[in-house]
Amino acid sequence: MKEQVDLVLTDCSEVVTLAGGSGPLTGAAMDDLALVAHGAVAVRDGLVLDVDERSVIEARYDARRRVSAEGGTVLPGFCDVHTHPVFTATREGEFDMRARGATYQEITAAGGGIFSSVRALRAAAGERDVLARGLEARLDRFLACGTTTIEAKSGYGLDLATELLSLELLAEAHASHPVDIDPTCLAAHQVPPEHKADRTAYVRLVVDEILPAAARAGLARSADVFCDQGAFTVEEARAILVGAKQLGLALRVHADELAPVGASELAGELGAQTADHLVRISDDGIAALRAGGTTAVLLPATCFSLRLRDYAPFARLLEAGVPVALATDFNPGTSYVPSMIEVIALACGLLGMTVAQAVTAATRNAAETLGLPGVRGRIEPGAVADLVVLDIPNHLFLGYQAGWNPVATVIKHGRVAWRRGTPGPLAEPSESS
Ligand code: NIG
Ligand code: FE
Repeated sequence: MKEQVDLVLTDCSEVVTLAGGSGPLTGAAMDDLALVAHGAVAVRDGLVLDVDERSVIEARYDARRRVSAEGGTVLPGFCDVHTHPVFTATREGEFDMRARGATYQEITAAGGGIFSSVRALRAAAGERDVLARGLEARLDRFLACGTTTIEAKSGYGLDLATELLSLELLAEAHASHPVDIDPTCLAAHQVPPEHKADRTAYVRLVVDEILPAAARAGLARSADVFCDQGAFTVEEARAILVGAKQLGLALRVHADELAPVGASELAGELGAQTADHLVRISDDGIAALRAGGTTAVLLPATCFSLRLRDYAPFARLLEAGVPVALATDFNPGTSYVPSMIEVIALACGLLGMTVAQAVTAATRNAAETLGLPGVRGRIEPGAVADLVVLDIPNHLFLGYQAGWNPVATVIKHGRVAWRRGTPGPLAEPSESS
C-alpha cells in the first residue's frame, strides 16, 4: 500500500538537497550540496516528507498532485537575508552619476542616497495602499526569481511613525503574500536631517522610542545599524545594538563596507546574528565574527552597483571558519537587483566562490540566520517545502548561464505559488485542485 502525500515533484535531473547535520555549512563542507541525481521530492502538509531517487519516491507514494520538473534542477527556495523593499521611488539617476565618477559617499553628502528615499517615503506615508502595492510588486519579483523567504528592513522612515508604518507594511505583506518575511528595524540607517545638529538625540530616539515600540508591537525580530564611514560610528552603533539586545532583538550590522571602521569587531563582540557587506573587514574583524558565531552576509550586487573594485574577502572568511551567506541587498540605491541567481553569478565572478559554495550561501547558510519557524534552505524530511525548479540540467549552470532567468516553477509551503508564463503569484486557494 502506497502512502498518500499531497504532492510529488518528479522528473528532476538533479535535486540539490543540502541535507544533513545542523547549522550552517562552513569550510570544506560549503562545497558539498548533497545532490540526488534523477530525484523526486514527496511533500505532505507543507513539509518535505522524503527526497530520493525518482523510482524510489514513485514506488513509495501516491500523490494527490504530481508536478514535473521536466528534467530541470530543483533547489531549496532561495533565502534572501538582506533586503530593503519598503520604498517609493527608484534612484536610477544615482547609478548614472556613479558611472560618471561620483561616489556613493559624495551622493549621500549632497543630500541624495538614503536621504532621497527618506524624503520620498515620508511624503508618501499617507498613501498606504500605494506603498503596499509597491511592496507586493517587489515580492512578486522575488518569487519569480525563486526567492521564497526574505529578511526585510525598514530604514527609509527614520522617525517613529514612518519606521512603524514600514514595519506594519512588512507584517501585512508577510500575511498576504507567498514570500515569507523576517522583519528588521533599521531606524539606524542614517541620522535624519532634523537631528543633524544633535546626533546623540537621534541615537536616544532609536534606543528609547523606535526600537521599543517596534519590539513591543512584535513588528521586528531584529535590529540593524549602518555602521560605516558617513553613517553611524562604532560608539553610536554600540549604544543602539546594546539597547536592541536588551529588548530581546537579534542583531544585524551593515559593517565595514566603505571603510574598516571596526563594525565587524563590534558585531562579533555582541554576538550579532549577521554582519553584512564586509568589503573592508580587517583580520581582527574576521576573528571577532568567528568568536561571536556571527554569519558573514556578502552582497556582491552592491559592489557591482557602487562600482567598488574591492570585494569581501570570501577566501579568508572561509579559511577562518566563519559561516558565509549571500543576499541581494535589494534597495533603490545601491542594488536594484532582486535575483539571488544573479547574486550567485556575481559571487562566482567577483568573490571567487565556487557555484556550490554560492548555492550553499544562498540557501542553507542564509536560512540559518532567519527567525521564522521551520527548517528552510534545505530539502530534507521535516523541512518547509519551499522548492524552486530551474530549467537547467545541473546546478553548475548557475553563474555559467547569466542573463536569463531559469526559474520555471516555485513551490511555497508545498503549493505551486508561481509558474513561468503566469502574470504573478497564483492565488493559493485556486492551487488546491
Ligand atoms: O546596504 N549601506 C547602507 N544601506 C544600503 C543602502 C541603502 C540606500 O542607499 O538606499 C545598503 O547598501
Ligand atoms: Fe543594506
